Amino acid sequence: MRPITVVVHGALGKMGREVTNAVCRDPNLEMIGAVDIQATQEQLTLPNASGQVPLSSDLSSVLQNRHPQVLVDFTIAEASMVAARIAAQQGVNLVIGTSGLSDDDLSEIDRLSQSNKVGAVVAPNFALGAAVLLHLARTAARFFDNAEIIELHDDEKADAPSGTALATARAMVQSRGKPFVYPRTRMEKLSGSRGGLIDGVAVHSVRLPGLVASQEVIFGALGQTLSLRHDTTSRECYMPGVIVAVKEVVKRQGLVYGLDALLNLEGSGEGV
Ligand SMILES: NC(=O)c1ccc[n+]([C@@H]2O[C@H](COP(=O)([O-])OP(=O)(O)OC[C@H]3O[C@@H](n4cnc5c(N)ncnc54)[C@H](O)[C@@H]3O)[C@@H](O)[C@H]2O)c1
Repeated sequence: MRPITVVVHGALGKMGREVTNAVCRDPNLEMIGAVDIQATQEQLTLPNASGQVPLSSDLSSVLQNRHPQVLVDFTIAEASMVAARIAAQQGVNLVIGTSGLSDDDLSEIDRLSQSNKVGAVVAPNFALGAAVLLHLARTAARFFDNAEIIELHDDEKADAPSGTALATARAMVQSRGKPFVYPRTRMEKLSGSRGGLIDGVAVHSVRLPGLVASQEVIFGALGQTLSLRHDTTSRECYMPGVIVAVKEVVKRQGLVYGLDALLNLEGSGEGV
């Protein structure tokens, strides 16, 4: 079987470098180009003596010259959308991990990929443990009336709460079919101390240097609690999920949203 050919968009960024390493480690994938707005050289040296690939700030020309099967994007939301339009029109499948895409963006990616007969995977969290936690939280949500979420990230994270925490709360409410019970505190002595509220789920955001990304969902009932917690210790945690997405996206047409939808996780829609 010939390896799946990959171009990385945002190749000079933190995630882009991890993806480059992961693609080069996998014998069934081949990195054939790199794009980044900060490119100042024409070649990117690959790890493990894998040679060099063309590096450019011009995505369109790299796709035209290299004809990859998959474009992996870890950039910023505006750049992802420009890349999605260019890639789909050139018949290139898309794996997008960039945060901050709107519902309109997702609809456009679905339309673009359907009309150009390519696959697109967009996942705000490629960590396998986060996808499994989401699945378990959906199950637990059917049995508990009360739940709160604590998410912990490094102090440079721009947004709060995390997209993953919002998506987890929404999935739990959808699975339960109604909002959770939220015990109102009669006297909130410090504004915001009960967190942000989404359909009865209080979400608390911790921001500290030294953290990578963690999330804990705590369910409560009479005489018991159930805690589900996922911790990441390095960006490598995202790579198995990205690699699964690259291998799956070439078999599909249209948008698949979320890593859980690519895995055999009951209740998440489709599975591999
Ligand atoms: N889905 C996930 O599991 C997951 C995990 C971690 C981070 N992320 C997201 O991935 C994105 C990238 O994160 P990062 O930590 O690598 O950021 P980063 O800033 O280290 O890297 C982003 C790269 O994109 C490049 N870039 C920006 N605009 C561009 C453009 N118009 N054209 C080409 N390249 C452009 C930058 O030069 C930079 O090299 C963020 O949105 C982050 O939230 C997602």
